[in-house]
Amino acid sequence: MEINQYNLTDAVKDSFKAKDDARFTLLLETMLDHLHDFVRETSLTHEEWMGILNFLYDCGKISTPERHEFILLSDVLGLSALVDMINTRGGATEGSNLGPFYLDNAPVKALGAHIADDRPGATVLCMGQVRDTLGHPLPGAVVDTWQADGAGTYPIQEEGQDKYDLRAKFTCDDEGRYFYTTVLPMPYTVPYDGPVGKLLRAGDRHAWRAAHLHYIVGAPRMRPITTEVFFANTDYLDNDAVFGVRDSLIGKVVRIKRGEELGVEVEKQPDAKLAFDFVLAPA
Ligand code: BEZ
Ligand code: FE
Repeated sequence: MEINQYNLTDAVKDSFKAKDDARFTLLLETMLDHLHDFVRETSLTHEEWMGILNFLYDCGKISTPERHEFILLSDVLGLSALVDMINTRGGATEGSNLGPFYLDNAPVKALGAHIADDRPGATVLCMGQVRDTLGHPLPGAVVDTWQADGAGTYPIQEEGQDKYDLRAKFTCDDEGRYFYTTVLPMPYTVPYDGPVGKLLRAGDRHAWRAAHLHYIVGAPRMRPITTEVFFANTDYLDNDAVFGVRDSLIGKVVRIKRGEELGVEVEKQPDAKLAFDFVLAPA
């Protein structure tokens, strides 16, 4: 049969002979359906298609192991957020952006540690409990956290800074509780000096992220979550550049009064506290 614009999609699908990996076949064929429909529905011109291909080429050209422009593209197009949303389990804490600054070998620290060295900024006591979806505490859960500083900078982005500062792994106590102090991070921009920045400018969009703390929380036999905690009444909650904010992930930073009992032992006296509990679903 002669190939035409109506049977071409099936012809391309059929050209992939090996169908033994059902999941791979589903992903490939569905992607082909949507890409071919995109071309048909928009009556895409040669110039437009070349523009898209050159944009992707530029994303590849600027990418390095430390800077993955395609992840950034996925973030600003809401694709990362969508994958987070559809993979959140009922009853568990909602997932949110991993971002590009995670290191899997963060220093293990004792509960109560201060993780911000002498960095300027308000000292906040971050505390909470890790539970399962039935409300049982998960003793021994591991809380892995990383964040920007009070100027909105990740130490890993700055030459000469200790990239392990402002990150730590904590093992929760017998009641599944975690607590540590840090500085309150400030908003920062996603990198916008490359093709994704050009796309943002073309769409009259800003590059700011609402200030946040990153977390990966896990426990034996539970499904780990990657998420972020934001702060009530701060900038960009309604227009985070990577669509990471969910109402359920916004915590409240409350000032600590003089002489107030903290209920936990900490290395450094905090100015404020942020209570946030995490809920994990079974694996
Ligand atoms: C972050 O949250 O660290 C981040 C997310 C997306 C792009 C850049 C940074
Ligand atoms: Fe971040």
